Amino acid sequence: MILITGVNGQLGFDVVKELNRRNIECLGIDRAELDITDGNAVRNYISELKPECVIHCAAYTAVDKAEDEEEICTKVNVYGTENIARACKEIDAKMIYISTDYVFDGKGDTPFEVDGNIEPHSVYGKTKYEGELKVKEVLNKYFIVRISWVFGVNGNNFIKTMLRLGKEKESLNVVCDQIGSPTYTFDLAPILCDMAVSEKYGVYHATNEGFCSWAEFATEIMKKANLDCKINPIPAIEYPAQAERPFNSRLSKKSITDNGFVLLPSWKNALDRFLEELFRNCR
Ligand SMILES: NC(=O)c1ccc[n+]([C@@H]2O[C@H](COP(=O)([O-])OP(=O)(O)OC[C@H]3O[C@@H](n4cnc5c(N)ncnc54)[C@H](OP(=O)(O)O)[C@@H]3O)[C@@H](O)[C@H]2O)c1
Repeated sequence: MILITGVNGQLGFDVVKELNRRNIECLGIDRAELDITDGNAVRNYISELKPECVIHCAAYTAVDKAEDEEEICTKVNVYGTENIARACKEIDAKMIYISTDYVFDGKGDTPFEVDGNIEPHSVYGKTKYEGELKVKEVLNKYFIVRISWVFGVNGNNFIKTMLRLGKEKESLNVVCDQIGSPTYTFDLAPILCDMAVSEKYGVYHATNEGFCSWAEFATEIMKKANLDCKINPIPAIEYPAQAERPFNSRLSKKSITDNGFVLLPSWKNALDRFLEELFRNCR
């Protein structure tokens, strides 16, 4: 049995679907079933259920809002994660913790290895990294999987925002000097399920293949959705946001291939399939 937190989010939703597809017994839960910040509740719930693995997808993910809500963000991403890790330890379960490219300093133009220079520039990034430290401190049987620029059918994301704005506006300014890789939750879910049934513990990076800027990503979205909206590339300095984002979010996938896991398809291919799925659901 595998327990998945954050089932109402983008990633948790697709992980449960993938486990069901594989006929692996699983249970997806969200805040209503279990608030991860309640240590006793987490301990009781997990010790009673006795999952072999917990795939921890729940998190505080409002990156800009986190700058004003450090306390609640820390409670969820650091102590909520610690609660799950301690409960896993008690029943000797594996844990998969999902982390982010925002833990890195964002410098340079080469992909970060898993042991690259950690220096989060935002509250969200800092709390996600502290969550990593809790997992490492408590457990031996853990996977830490850093992902970036996430999109899935179940939730809001950059693509859905671009599709909405693309219908309303003739042109849009989009940042062109932050480079990374989009991650389609439908493509990420299988690798997490492969990890859950393996013992290849450690730190990983998993995203779709290929790199782009947000402006290139937006241009491709408009093209593939046949929207007549021109994307004007602008530097990040002209698009102030509350939280600082890394300029370089490229992640090396060496740990994936070294351990015999399968790389995700290219982000352009993922975008095609995501749009097909979205439009199919709209028909
Ligand atoms: N989105 C990205 O671009 C991105 C990038 C890199 C890494 N990640 C990481 O990837 C993972 C999955 O992200 P996602 O985009 O799927 O997130 P998401 O769609 O925002 O879903 C997160 C889920 O966590 C739940 N949650 C929040 N606080 C909780 C609590 N106290 N107790 C129980 N559940 C709680 C939320 O429930 P409510 O709706 O009730 O709040 C929500 O359903 C997260 O660890 C995130 O940090 C995301």
